[in-house]
Amino acid sequence: MPSTTPPPEHLRKEVDSVLIGETEIAARVRELAADIERDFADRDLLVVALLTGTVPFLADLIRHITLPMRLDFIGVSSYGNNTAPGELVFTKELRLEAENRDVLLVDDILDTGKTLRAVTDKLNALKPRSLKTCVLLEKKSRRAEKIMGDYVGFEVPDAFVVGYGLDYAECYRNLPFIGILKPEVHA
Ligand code: IMP
Ligand code: MG
Repeated sequence: MPSTTPPPEHLRKEVDSVLIGETEIAARVRELAADIERDFADRDLLVVALLTGTVPFLADLIRHITLPMRLDFIGVSSYGNNTAPGELVFTKELRLEAENRDVLLVDDILDTGKTLRAVTDKLNALKPRSLKTCVLLEKKSRRAEKIMGDYVGFEVPDAFVVGYGLDYAECYRNLPFIGILKPEVHA
């Protein structure tokens, strides 16, 4: 588990600590891209990213992948603004053809696994040639579905994390680091 440092002054009321800093994120994202490049060499790659939390991660990741690829998005969110995983709703459907393609599904964090389970079931129904998953973060303690990420950036503790795409009530996605939100903010 990474060691933590204090957040910038202007965030100290809300963010408890920086869990993973910008430099560490950038280095790990390059490694993930290198692993993906190696495994998908000579394949017809379709990257499917989940909205909205993947945006910074996805933008950094794909710039380090030199393979030809297509990119599409699926919108999925759970009801409400709370931190408890709720019922899933699809807010945007896939537009590109997935049949017979090598699909890489990208999400921000694998927690209970309900999101990845629902989306991988949906994608598998489209008969891709292969389907792999890539998540920036994973929390192992709350897993409810038997599902693992094929490419995982970092394992994080069971705390609410924000930044680098991850939100609380749609805020904090723009932070360049991954921080632990103070419990009183999301209580
Ligand atoms: P799962 O369906 O429980 O695996 O959760 C996946 C989704 O829950 C992610 O795409 C996030 O939107 C959200 N999520 C889970 N844990 C956190 C967190 O610590 N911070 C922000 N979002 C989270
Ligand atoms: Mg999300």
